[in-house]
Amino acid sequence: MLSLYIIFGVGILLALVAIIWRLSSLRSSIPCPTWLGWLVELDNPLFRNNSAREIIRHLALEPGMKVLDFGCGPGRLTIPVAKRVGSGGEVTAFDIQAGMLQRVRSKAAAEKLDNIRFVQGGAGEGKLGCEQYDRALLVTVLGEIPDRQAALAEIFDSLKHGGILSVTEVIADPHFQRRDSVRQAATAAGFVERAFFGNRVSYTINFERP
Ligand SMILES: C[S@@+](CC[C@H](N)C(=O)[O-])C[C@H]1O[C@@H](n2cnc3c(N)ncnc32)[C@H](O)[C@@H]1O
Repeated sequence: MLSLYIIFGVGILLALVAIIWRLSSLRSSIPCPTWLGWLVELDNPLFRNNSAREIIRHLALEPGMKVLDFGCGPGRLTIPVAKRVGSGGEVTAFDIQAGMLQRVRSKAAAEKLDNIRFVQGGAGEGKLGCEQYDRALLVTVLGEIPDRQAALAEIFDSLKHGGILSVTEVIADPHFQRRDSVRQAATAAGFVERAFFGNRVSYTINFERP
């Protein structure tokens, strides 16, 4: 009985944190803190579209590709993607927080992966270069970026022609972005929608740089 109360209490606490975080995010964008990295890594069975496996399945990755993991967090996607593109490819782990990149570094070392490039920076700092990447990932990040339009324009420039930007959003994230606003912003940046997976509350949209 006691354990039921504890589980219920933790559930209520997490829901409260999410609500408070969501409300404060309406005023200013607060990046997911490094100490909450473990939460980002949980594969919630309610939102299968947000699992690393599903997102990667829709990316059509090939060995040798160059991939940008924008807002990589603790590397939930960086590590499996690095394995898929192999030693001839490269993943750029890009994040504003040094603590998140440190987590990815530790995982890469444990897995003996040497095809990950680490870049600490924020959207709009001009650190991505032009026509570099075959794929770009933006997984539960967009809502944390204050100037989303500028970030999408920067990612657009960093992709090769024919490159794919994969945007994933899930309602459980306090910074959740509705699919219509993502579509609108990506289209305004020059992207063309190529595929949609999921539903209103948990989805991935793949956009192409023509
Ligand atoms: C919710 S986490 C998602 C991590 C990862 N994409 C995943 O799905 O597992 C969001 C990440 O975006 C990063 N971030 C937030 N604002 C950013 C910005 N302006 N530029 C780069 N990274 C940013 C945060 O530091 C955090 O690691």
